[in-house]
This record gives sequence, structure tokens and C-alpha cells, in this order.
Amino acid sequence: MENFTYFCPTHWIFGRDTQARVGELVARFAGKNATVLLHFGGNSIKRSGLYDTTVSALRERGVRFVELGGVVPNPRLNLVREGIRLCRDAGVSFILAVGGGSVIDSAKAIAAGIDADNGDIWETFVSRRPLKTAVPVATVLTLPATGSEMSPNTVITDEASGYKLGYGDEKLRPVFSIVNPELFFTLPPDQIANGVSDMMSHIFERYFSNTPHCDITDGLCESVLRTIIRNAPCLLENPENYDAWAEIGFAGTVAHNNLLGLGREQDWACHGMEHEISAIYDVAHGAGLAVVTPAWMKFVLPEKSAKLAQFAKNVFGVPAGTTDSETAQAGINALTAFYKKMGLPTTMRELGIPDASRFEEMAKKAVLGRSRDGNEIPQGNFRKLFSGDIVAIYNLAQHD
Ligand code: NZQ
Ligand code: ZN
Repeated sequence: MENFTYFCPTHWIFGRDTQARVGELVARFAGKNATVLLHFGGNSIKRSGLYDTTVSALRERGVRFVELGGVVPNPRLNLVREGIRLCRDAGVSFILAVGGGSVIDSAKAIAAGIDADNGDIWETFVSRRPLKTAVPVATVLTLPATGSEMSPNTVITDEASGYKLGYGDEKLRPVFSIVNPELFFTLPPDQIANGVSDMMSHIFERYFSNTPHCDITDGLCESVLRTIIRNAPCLLENPENYDAWAEIGFAGTVAHNNLLGLGREQDWACHGMEHEISAIYDVAHGAGLAVVTPAWMKFVLPEKSAKLAQFAKNVFGVPAGTTDSETAQAGINALTAFYKKMGLPTTMRELGIPDASRFEEMAKKAVLGRSRDGNEIPQGNFRKLFSGDIVAIYNLAQHD
């Protein structure tokens, strides 16, 4: 196990009716005389009534606020820049994001860009330089998936350059996050499945590690994965199953607040490869991950069969085969079958990518996006991947 320091300061307000506390919490955390940005996406919070209850709760507490809606899935740099201008003009010192991961990520990028001393926001993403300051962000989560409600990360797409980049700074961990499983009842089946796929991948990116002696985090990862696999199908049968949503909502947050990644080298190659797909084809992140992950597992299997066999046995209950390779392959098959049961795509074609014409371009972007000297920076750690490897994985993802 490697050394680590862990500090996760987000107040986690979990359970039924908890959104009713949003006015009280914003008033407490933003302080008197603050102007707050209320940030949201499309119409889902207006349809569900959450927009009205949030606005009323803020007004009841005398919180002054300005609004910016219109965040789209795979949130865009243009709206972030508009938000930064609005916040500077209005003197905003606190941001409340009400929505899914895209809204929260857009809020974090705005929070990182308001102070001009931090420099240009996109340059911050490209260079990964630390922030001098950030405006505090809080969230009311409507879609359990990204874990952004308790993570220091944000992912933004610049349509002009075609890049989708992640950025992280501890100053961006939300000060509080309200997670009420009842707010997930309105999610359509494809968003349920995308969210489940994303949170599982956040665990895979930590679980598939070369660091030895990580028994505690291995066990936590396996337990949370089993919980997701047991509860997620119940939501497709009944999207108003509170108990199943409570498990999935809890899982989505712990999958990515880094508790499960402590003391171990992490991978993140599947996320890197998926971000290039969604940057170009604008597919849902969780759907892209369901296509890339089994292909990545098949690619690393010859060298990494022992860990994949452990995954197969401890997560899917696959009986040990004659060899680790055989057990590992059965685990990959079980994962693919689970994705299919959830209605997720498992091939490039099902994802809406008809041919391999842009594989090479996406693979190059995945390894050159942050390179300053034109040399490839490999994706992943469990098995380092250069552009040729990534093209091979995209090709494997053309078939189950
Ligand atoms: O825009 P509205 O109308 O709100 O509709 C949204 C959107 O169309 C809808 N939705 C959200 N809550 C709903 C709902 N519909 C009905 N009922 C509800 N309760 O769902 C659609 C998708 O929302 P979005 O926020 O885009 O989904 P998600 O939470 O999966 O976020 C995906 C984004 O997060 C990034 C992804 O790359 C992608 O850009 N990620 C962020 C991470 C982070 N910050 O740490 C890590 C992740 O790995 C990921 O990369
Ligand atoms: Zn993700």
C-alpha cells in the first residue's frame, strides 16, 4: 500500500426530503450578503418541480441569486465562459448546482475561472496548474453517476478544438451536497443505465491497480460493485424503488470520492479513451464506458489475468476455471451480459459509431492532448497504453 493523505470536507446530506434544507444550507455556507449563482441544465428540474422548490427555499431565507441554465450533457466551455462573465458582473461568491454531473462540472469550472488571478480557464484545464482561489460550490444531485457531488474533478468540452478535458483541484470539492434518492425517480432508463456504468467504471479505474497489499480497498471496491449489480436492475423494473436508489445513490458518491482509491496507483485509461469518443461523437459518457471497458479488459487479459480472475470470482461469483485466463474471460462475459441487461450498448456500432474512420485520430488525441513536445503520454497505469494500443482496443470494441 502506498502512503496517502485523505481529506474530504463535503457535507453529505442524504435521504428523503433533504432538498427542503437547501435554503438553510446556502444561507449558512454562503454567508450574509452573498450573491449566489443558481446553475442548472435543461428542463428536467422544471418538470420535476425541483426548480420551484429551490427558488422558494432560497427566497425564504433571503438569499440573493442570479440564474444560469442551459448546461448540456458533455458541458461546454462556451457556457462556462458565459457563467464566468455573469458571476464577475454580479459579484457572485457562491455557486449552487442543481442537476447531474454536467451541471456540477460546469459550476466547478465557473468557480475556478471567476478569479482572474487563476488565468484563462481553458489554459488551467490544459496545464493542470493549481488554482489560487475558487468560489465555493454546493450541489443538489439529480442523477447518481459521476460522483462529482463529492469529487474535486470537472470535465469540460471545448467544441472549437474538439477536446474534452478533465481537471481537478481540492478547492473544487463541493462544500455540501444534497443527495435525495427520491429525486432520481424521474430518470429515464437510459440515464439510469449510463449512471450505473459510470460509477462502476470509477471503481474499476481504482480496482485494476498494480499496487500490492490493498486488501481493504480491494474488498470495498468488490462490495460496492456487488451492491450496484444487485440493485441496478431493480430500478429498470421500478424507477420509484427508494431502497434500490438509496444503495445506488450511496454507491455513486463513494465510487468517486476516492475512499476506494486510497493507497493505490490508479488507472483511468478507460476514461481517457471514452472522453475522446464523447468529445467527437457526443455520446453519453456511461454508454461509451460500457463499450470501451470490456474491450480494454480483453486487451490487458494476457498480462493481467490474475486480477481479472479475482474480479470475476469476487464480483460476479464466477467459479474458478482451469486457468486464471479462463476465469477472467468468464468475468468479462458476465460484465458484458450485465451491461446488456441494463440496456447499455456494448459495441461501437450500438453506440452509434458506424466505422473505424476516426479511431486513429481519437487515439492520438488521447495521448497527445497534454503533450508539450509531441511525444505520446500513455494512458493508464495498470497497463500503459500508447496510440497503437488504443486503436487496437477501439477495434476490439467493434464486436462483443
Ligand atoms: O439537462 P437536464 O434537463 O437536467 O437533463 C439531464 C440530461 O439531459 C437529465 N437528467 C438529470 N437529472 C434528471 C434528468 N432527467 C430526468 N430526471 C432527473 N432527475 O439527464 C441527462 C444527462 O445529465 P448529465 O448531467 O449530462 O449526466 P451525468 O451526471 O452522467 O454527467 C455526465 C458528465 O460528467 C462527466 C462526463 O464526462 C459527462 O460530461 N464526468 C464527470 C466526472 C467528475 N466531475 O468527476 C467524472 C466522470 O467520470 C465523468 O467524466
Ligand atoms: Zn466517469
